[in-house]
Amino acid sequence: MEQKPSGSKSIPIRHSVDGLTPYLTDKPDDREVRARLCFNENLYGPSPAAVKAIVQSALTVHFYPDPGGWELREALSRKHGVPAEQIILGNGADGLISLISNTFLNPEDEVLFCEPTFPIYRSSARIAMGTPRGIPLDAACRFDLEGLLKAMTPKTRLVYVCNPNNPTGTILDPEVIEAFLKKIPEETLVILDEAYVDFMDAEMVPPVTSWIEKGYPVISLRTFSKAYGLAGMRLGYALAAREIIENLYKAREPFCVSALAVKAGAGALSDTGHYRKVTEGIRRERQGLQDALKKRGLSVIPSQANFIFFDLGMDAEGICRRLAEYGILIRCSPSWKMPTWARVSVGIPEANRLFLRALDAVLDDMTK
Ligand SMILES: Cc1ncc(COP(=O)(O)O)c(C=O)c1O
Repeated sequence: MEQKPSGSKSIPIRHSVDGLTPYLTDKPDDREVRARLCFNENLYGPSPAAVKAIVQSALTVHFYPDPGGWELREALSRKHGVPAEQIILGNGADGLISLISNTFLNPEDEVLFCEPTFPIYRSSARIAMGTPRGIPLDAACRFDLEGLLKAMTPKTRLVYVCNPNNPTGTILDPEVIEAFLKKIPEETLVILDEAYVDFMDAEMVPPVTSWIEKGYPVISLRTFSKAYGLAGMRLGYALAAREIIENLYKAREPFCVSALAVKAGAGALSDTGHYRKVTEGIRRERQGLQDALKKRGLSVIPSQANFIFFDLGMDAEGICRRLAEYGILIRCSPSWKMPTWARVSVGIPEANRLFLRALDAVLDDMTK
């Protein structure tokens, strides 16, 4: 007898994926957005050199990209002073986090991090059938490295250190990180997520390439989405010892980085003037925004990134919703378990002014 098609509802999915929440996939509403300060994007925009490179290479997109992305890896090799063989490109830092999980995790291997932090560490570990485990940040909202060491077990394979941490914007002293790396057991890999490294005070930037050279089990994650203003291109890279990079290539989709992304990245790297304008502008605006929030009586965690985490002292979700009515988008999240806190990206001066004006109007209204 013929069976009636049952539809696709009864196809079982991997248990570890069941229960994950899709990331903000609702269709955006039609409301006018006046300042999009919810994704830590770079409102200064991409370098004109990157845009030119994208436009020029658009005519040849009928060819697959070079899977090695050599043009960009060689430029990155010159920037960081490491051989291109110690660099891998990815479909954003997000793509690299998934790749790391897919390369190094066997079922039930543990992945450790502090929380709140970047949520993809947890979800990518689960998708790869690992066991994610978050411990709290320390009292200053920084990654608690002592706590991570104590939480490690023989099953711990990956440990994330987000520096600066998203959403808190906090960093750790490089000496503290190095002392931590010295205590990491064999067969455990530390992932130093440096997505926001370009906005840090120079003297606090970890000397990660020298740590790799010394043989510490560390991999550094970088992205072109922030300081280089290429979030829409999806381009990131990792720096690590040659063997780690070789293993990552085994699990990587061959063409996961588009030809346009490689060209855009190389163009962006060549435009040091634009990079300086962006990073200096954001540092200046960050200070101004922090001061402005404090002047309004709000607690602010000093940030080393292109966003600020601050305490509204009342239900942040309600305030985010009210701000959205003014076309101002900032972020708060139940997963942070800090219901009065919000994160605002540091934009260009006009966007930051619009945010502060709308915040004043909303807070005025709420306290009436
Ligand atoms: C800490 C952190 N790591 C990685 C990423 C992902 O960056 P990409 O846009 O390169 O995927 C982000 C993005 O916001 C982030 O905040």
